[in-house]
Amino acid sequence: MLRFLQLVAILGGSTLGVEAVFETTYHSFPLAVQPFTVIERSPHYDPHDTNLFLVCPNGGAVAEPGAAIYKSSGELVWANSTFGNCYDLNLQTFNGRDYLTMWVGAGSAAVGGQMGFGTVLMMNSNYEVVMNVSAVNPEGTDLHEFKIVEPENKTALLTAFHTIPMNLSSIGGPVNGWYSNGVIQEINIATGAVLFNWTTFDHIDLAESYNNISLTGQGSSEENPFDAVHINSIDKDREGNYIISARHSQAIYKIAANGTILWRLGGKMSDFTAIGNGTEFHWQHHARWRMNESHISLFDDGAAVLVSTVNIIDEPVATGKYLKVDQEAMTVSLTKQFFPGPNRNYTLAEGSMEFYQDTVLVGYGLLPWTEAYSFDTEELLFSAVVGPNNAALWKISGISNYRAFQTSTLTFTGHPTRPPNVSVTNGDIYVSWNGATHVASYTLLTGSSVGNVSERLTSVPKTGFETKIPAKGTAEFIAVAALALNGSTLGRSAVYDMSDGTIASS
Ligand SMILES: *[C@@H]1O[C@H](CO)[C@@H](O)[C@H](O)[C@H]1NC(C)=O
Ligand SMILES: *[C@@H]1O[C@H](CO)[C@@H](O)[C@H](O)[C@H]1NC(C)=O
Ligand SMILES: *[C@@H]1O[C@H](CO)[C@@H](O)[C@H](O)[C@H]1NC(C)=O
Ligand SMILES: *[C@@H]1O[C@H](CO)[C@@H](O)[C@H](O)[C@H]1NC(C)=O
Ligand SMILES: *[C@@H]1O[C@H](CO)[C@@H](O)[C@H](O)[C@H]1NC(C)=O
Ligand SMILES: *[C@@H]1O[C@H](CO)[C@@H](O)[C@H](O)[C@H]1NC(C)=O
Ligand SMILES: *[C@@H]1O[C@H](CO)[C@@H](O)[C@H](O)[C@H]1NC(C)=O
Ligand SMILES: *[C@@H]1O[C@H](CO)[C@@H](O)[C@H](O)[C@H]1NC(C)=O
Ligand SMILES: *[C@@H]1O[C@H](CO)[C@@H](O)[C@H](O)[C@H]1NC(C)=O
Ligand SMILES: *[C@@H]1O[C@H](CO)[C@@H](O)[C@H](O)[C@H]1NC(C)=O
Ligand SMILES: *[C@@H]1O[C@H](CO)[C@@H](O)[C@H](O)[C@H]1NC(C)=O
Ligand SMILES: *[C@@H]1O[C@H](CO)[C@@H](O)[C@H](O)[C@H]1NC(C)=O
Repeated sequence: MLRFLQLVAILGGSTLGVEAVFETTYHSFPLAVQPFTVIERSPHYDPHDTNLFLVCPNGGAVAEPGAAIYKSSGELVWANSTFGNCYDLNLQTFNGRDYLTMWVGAGSAAVGGQMGFGTVLMMNSNYEVVMNVSAVNPEGTDLHEFKIVEPENKTALLTAFHTIPMNLSSIGGPVNGWYSNGVIQEINIATGAVLFNWTTFDHIDLAESYNNISLTGQGSSEENPFDAVHINSIDKDREGNYIISARHSQAIYKIAANGTILWRLGGKMSDFTAIGNGTEFHWQHHARWRMNESHISLFDDGAAVLVSTVNIIDEPVATGKYLKVDQEAMTVSLTKQFFPGPNRNYTLAEGSMEFYQDTVLVGYGLLPWTEAYSFDTEELLFSAVVGPNNAALWKISGISNYRAFQTSTLTFTGHPTRPPNVSVTNGDIYVSWNGATHVASYTLLTGSSVGNVSERLTSVPKTGFETKIPAKGTAEFIAVAALALNGSTLGRSAVYDMSDGTIASS
């Protein structure tokens, strides 16, 4: 019953507001989609514009939430809002093929809309959904994690949760209280079989939580369970152990395949000795093993919104942290730290840190900043914001992006099954091809009968998501062909009637 409610303030909804005017609408395609506003870009960064950023704009100021792909230039490459709210858009390999993966669904009203109830879609490079993956018992996948386990790439790690009764009196809550039980599962993607199933209730004591029950008022009803642990990422090591990031106990746990917690990093019961400063983190996200499991990267939010009225601020600035974790000496030290620029602030929720060749991409979560750094020098190379560069939107119910990921046109070729779309507006011709990653130019074709639109009028370079072509010299009917850099035709639009801009039936 709780599950049908729209995402509330924290995760956004579809509140049409004044701020929606910031969205861009194209002539040839009716999508209203957030711009990707580039703030800073080093001349050395992505010189051939091959990077593709995978984003899910979300939040109260986003009229039409959905998935989007942008280039470093800010150009929109693909947008699709068919499934509504999405989180965690990424490109991952399954069975030797690349798939766009994303969580879709609604926020659960339980735990203040901070968890999701939905499923994970896997799309091929034609943007067709070919599979969807869900948790099993409990049904419904939470939005926080969907990671395909390398190197076999046959199973996936995902989060789920369910509400159970629990005696919360040890932390000042009701004896007949309610608890949001965090679940992690490893699933065989092809068969749906559950290979690993582990819950916070069975393994993590209430006393480890930093969620102050008297402050947040959670736990008193089934509709408002106590969110003690709040798992937001899962990774797996070569030996088959897991690490999870738990926002509300502010710790990373290493879990053996038999379920035993092997160690805690951070939180109230850390098993590590910190060497030097900067190893502590607060309300963190996206913990991943790096460098042959000698380091852990994480996004250190520094702050949290626990329920809409309770913000806790522990650090002034959110950063990406790269920690050296010595599991023999049981020591941790800060090796690298990536600071936001040009603005600085803590992040109240969400966020990510991912590595691409010699760069590090940090997504600032509720602050919709996407920033790339040199791994070696920690220098900021690229900074962009999902939506306009407007600080008034960098808040709960503004614009957010759970995690920022990247791929490249050298790796991914998006080839939509639908043809390019054309609009004849005020005598001008506009063309776009939503999702096509490798179009270099468009050729305008014309003819005086629907069946013979073959005269090549002009070719123009693609100038953005949508390209304007002069209509000079057109006969009654037109079509537009999309060409690759080598001149080959990638696709061709329907035939349009110049008199009214409609698709002409043959
Ligand atoms: C698994 O996925 C990773 C990342 O995409 C890739 O590097 C690796 O080659 C894949 N392995 C297999 C067996 O497909
Ligand atoms: C969005 O994706 C879905 C699934 O692939 C597809 O059915 C739909 O046509 C797409 N919408 C647009 C506008 O491309
Ligand atoms: C996911 O798969 C299930 C079972 O095949 C189906 O009922 C459901 O509609 C699918 N969801 C989406 C969003 O495609
Ligand atoms: C996962 O564990 C929970 C708690 O022990 C249990 O209720 C649930 O049935 C398990 N799910 C599976 C698929 O084993
Ligand atoms: C609830 O927990 C408290 C503290 O742990 C304990 O003293 C009490 O006996 C428990 N009550 C019930 C009904 O289990
Ligand atoms: C929890 O919140 C209450 C009410 O604001 C406060 O009195 C108490 O000190 C807090 N406890 C902790 C451990 O922060
Ligand atoms: C669980 O696995 C760990 C690590 O492999 C081991 O040290 C521990 O003894 C095991 N516990 C049980 C109950 O089997
Ligand atoms: C850690 O920070 C404290 C206070 O800022 C400082 O006094 C101390 O020298 C620092 N220690 C190291 C090892 O950097
Ligand atoms: C990673 O570490 C393991 C165990 O310490 C070692 O056997 C392996 O050679 C290392 N691999 C690389 C690429 O360094
Ligand atoms: C930091 O974020 C908070 C909460 O959104 C906001 O009130 C504050 O103005 C921000 N500070 C700066 C320096 O932008
Ligand atoms: C794009 O064009 C195709 C036919 O060529 C049409 O079926 C589709 O509805 C158009 N899409 C949009 C979003 O206008
Ligand atoms: C198609 O139109 C071209 C000129 O646009 C003309 O040369 C050609 O003969 C026409 N072909 C047919 C089959 O009508």
